Amino acid sequence: MGLLIFFSTMYLLLLKAGILGILLSPQVLDGKEQYEGHQVLEVVPQNEVQVTCLKDICRSSLLDLWIPLEPDGIRVRTKVHVRIPSTALQSVKEDLLRCSLDFKILIENVKDIVGRIKENKNVRHKRSLENYNYEQYHPMEEIYSWITQMADNNKDFITQHSLGETYELRPMQYLKISQPSSQPKKIVWMDCGIHAREWIAPAFCQWFVKEIVQSCQSDPKMKKILSNVDVYVLPVLNIDGYTYTWTHERLWRKSRSKYHNGTCYGVDLNRNFDVNWCVEGSSTNCSSNAFCGDSPASEPETKALVNFVEKWKSDIICYLSIHSYSQLILTAYGYTTELPKNYNETVKVAQMAASELKKIHGTDYLAGTFAEQLYKASGTSQDWLCNQGIDFSYTLELRDNGTNQFILPEDQIRPTCEETMAAVMTIIEYINDKYFPNVASVSSVSLWLFTFTALQIVLCGLY
Ligand SMILES: *[C@@H]1O[C@H](CO)[C@@H](O)[C@H](O)[C@H]1NC(C)=O
Ligand SMILES: *[C@@H]1O[C@H](CO)[C@@H](O)[C@H](O)[C@H]1NC(C)=O
Ligand SMILES: *[C@@H]1O[C@H](CO)[C@@H](O)[C@H](O)[C@H]1NC(C)=O
Ligand SMILES: *[C@@H]1O[C@H](CO)[C@@H](O)[C@H](O)[C@H]1NC(C)=O
Ligand SMILES: [Zn+2]
Repeated sequence: MGLLIFFSTMYLLLLKAGILGILLSPQVLDGKEQYEGHQVLEVVPQNEVQVTCLKDICRSSLLDLWIPLEPDGIRVRTKVHVRIPSTALQSVKEDLLRCSLDFKILIENVKDIVGRIKENKNVRHKRSLENYNYEQYHPMEEIYSWITQMADNNKDFITQHSLGETYELRPMQYLKISQPSSQPKKIVWMDCGIHAREWIAPAFCQWFVKEIVQSCQSDPKMKKILSNVDVYVLPVLNIDGYTYTWTHERLWRKSRSKYHNGTCYGVDLNRNFDVNWCVEGSSTNCSSNAFCGDSPASEPETKALVNFVEKWKSDIICYLSIHSYSQLILTAYGYTTELPKNYNETVKVAQMAASELKKIHGTDYLAGTFAEQLYKASGTSQDWLCNQGIDFSYTLELRDNGTNQFILPEDQIRPTCEETMAAVMTIIEYINDKYFPNVASVSSVSLWLFTFTALQIVLCGLY
């Protein structure tokens, strides 16, 4: 009898394990065996011969370039980050040596750091908003329920909307944060997660909303801003791709639309906007990580944002697109090294933001144009919005600067979000004061008077 119970329990356990195994098999794949022995190298070519050589190596071996995304983007004295499968490692390193290219190993074994993100995603229960852990990465179902709870718990000023549907028909839910006002208001738009593997981006969008909710009553700065502008936050733009990074391939970048009869998948949504489309830093090959799609705005995700912006562009005063990694605050343009007409002002604001950011945890960020600081790229959302007349269009590349790259450990979510918050608020506050000078001038005049009086007292005391 005892034995029978033992065997039937074992049988049930095995059955359960078997079923679970089937259900969870994609997640088991994610980040484990898949990236076993893969390395990420940094190479900085020193002359044109080395540039050509490195381009050839990257082209011939089907390597996963992280910076830049395309071999054509490789330039002299500019760093290249590339992931190399274990099977190609030996030959690639020999090729690099043959061209006298020094390399640094940034990640010894990609599997190890992908696996470090806690594997507790299968045992989560529905949580209440109060217990939501902002210092963890969340799969899409949890983000969806977070969005709904945010709107439900703050009915008086947060509403949930759908921008459209993704290729795989998931609703592109965003939150509109809007304090009631009798005056016409402007719009600040933020989207995160246009690139699937940049998990810190959606984490920041959620942090940003949480911070607004927590401080909108108590922080005078936040109160002032929210009386003039409505803040729209799309926590994950590329929802299909983000979902895929949780179920199949942690390092997937693009959307998931099917091309060429299902022989290849996904468009780089940040190459799909109608601005110098598919010329720089893009590829017409669907196998490329920088595939620009069939035509400008061919993708439903791009089209959804385009429709929204075309409808509301006269009200949008700021566009923020959150990415990782590289620690940069980028202005237009990406598609050319020419500067937009308002560059001096937008870059000044980016520099102010970088300096406020640094005050929080000492992290260095650089400010400048996308094309100068990163690489040339056509069809980015930032450039397209800039050309729609939204001068203050920024791309933020969050932490880190090469150590963990896309696989930023969860213990860096808090410091990253705290410092990014300072940068984003600096940008928004500047623009708010610019577009709503009445409110701003009152406070700056009184500040000036105060300073003047204080100075007089000091001077009187001295002389
Ligand atoms: C897709 O399949 C159809 C029918 O089998 C074929 O006519 C077409 O050429 C294919 N397209 C591509 C891009 O392979
Ligand atoms: C697209 O890229 C893949 C992988 O790099 C390559 O095998 C294929 O031949 C390319 N296709 C075209 C049409 O260039
Ligand atoms: C921007 O600044 C540069 C250097 O300070 C100056 O030469 C240029 O005239 C300025 N451009 C505009 C449009 O103000
Ligand atoms: C990131 O590291 C590179 C060296 O690889 C350095 O040149 C660059 O200044 C660093 N960026 C920041 C923002 O510190
Ligand atoms: Zn990105």
